[in-house]
Amino acid sequence: MSAQRVTVIEHLLSQQNAIPTATGRFTHLFNELILSAKIISREVRKAGLVDALGFTGEINIQGEAVKKLDDFSNDILLYRMSKSGVVCGMASEENDDIVLVNNENSTGDYIFIFDPLDGSSNIDINVNIGTIFSVYKRKSAASGDVCKEDFLQKGTEQLAAGYVLYGSSTMLVFTTGQGVYGFTFDPGVGEFLLSHAQMQNPQSGNIYSVNEGNRSYWDAQICNVVDAMKIDKNGTPRSLRYIGSLVADFHRNFIYGGIFIYPPDNRDEKSKNGKLRLLYEANPMAFLAEQGGGGAIDGKQRILDIQPTSIHQRVPLYTGSQDDITKILEMMSSAG
Ligand code: AHG
Ligand code: MN
Ligand code: MN
Repeated sequence: MSAQRVTVIEHLLSQQNAIPTATGRFTHLFNELILSAKIISREVRKAGLVDALGFTGEINIQGEAVKKLDDFSNDILLYRMSKSGVVCGMASEENDDIVLVNNENSTGDYIFIFDPLDGSSNIDINVNIGTIFSVYKRKSAASGDVCKEDFLQKGTEQLAAGYVLYGSSTMLVFTTGQGVYGFTFDPGVGEFLLSHAQMQNPQSGNIYSVNEGNRSYWDAQICNVVDAMKIDKNGTPRSLRYIGSLVADFHRNFIYGGIFIYPPDNRDEKSKNGKLRLLYEANPMAFLAEQGGGGAIDGKQRILDIQPTSIHQRVPLYTGSQDDITKILEMMSSAG
């Protein structure tokens, strides 16, 4: 019964009661995030009817053609989060530089970093896509302007991280450091309602996820690691599942168990650290993975321990069940 289900704000308030220093200001941020997710979900679900598919004709800083829904989602999040009254600066995959929020009445000291639409290549073929977000506290003095260093914080500094998955249902999955919780959108009442409490990533799983089409670009060590992930500890072949939307691949592996890999490749200068971006893809997923009992590494170290140097920097990503992470670290360290 929807009436007994817990809403996101109810959940946040119950968590805040457990943290004396927490203020209700987090709920202002999540109120705007929830509204953004509802608006984007509505647009995604009727994209083919409102000329929201296809490209805008622009190329973003990633060198990628921008889809109309990338732009739409980015505009919604930039506008709504700037109205939260608690965000002082933002960084987005679709914006070259940081975006300062200068509301006269803002008491903002949260930094909001996001990938407005993840899995853009899947938009026009109606396959799962998502939004990814990460929240930090500013480090610079409140009296001054927000600066780059406020955005270049290690993933361990995240106050919250999560994603919205526009799938067969729309889900909001996030952590504030007290476990991972999933909320499913009920269009009948217009609310995200708790459907997955304390989500746990299985210690091992039967799935490996990697774009095998890139194999010819991988070095021998990475080929060995991927080959090792194709079988379980009994030597039984595992299943390859790869959707091409990080949010969807991560969500499936988080629930079923398994490993997702986006390794570096030698295709060109751009992909020497892989394709995924540290600030708004790897770090939020790493926070969720570890909160769920899994792991996330760049092949050698925790993703969350990496000191960022630029807001769009890329990083190799191996994330999923702890047994696989342990095995990959052993292989990488023994190969030196
Ligand atoms: P985005 O659409 O935000 O650029 O992200 C796409 C990413 C990620 O969602 C996915 O894991 C990866 O691109 C897939 O890349 P390939 O198509 O190269 O496998
Ligand atoms: Mn993405
Ligand atoms: Mn994106």
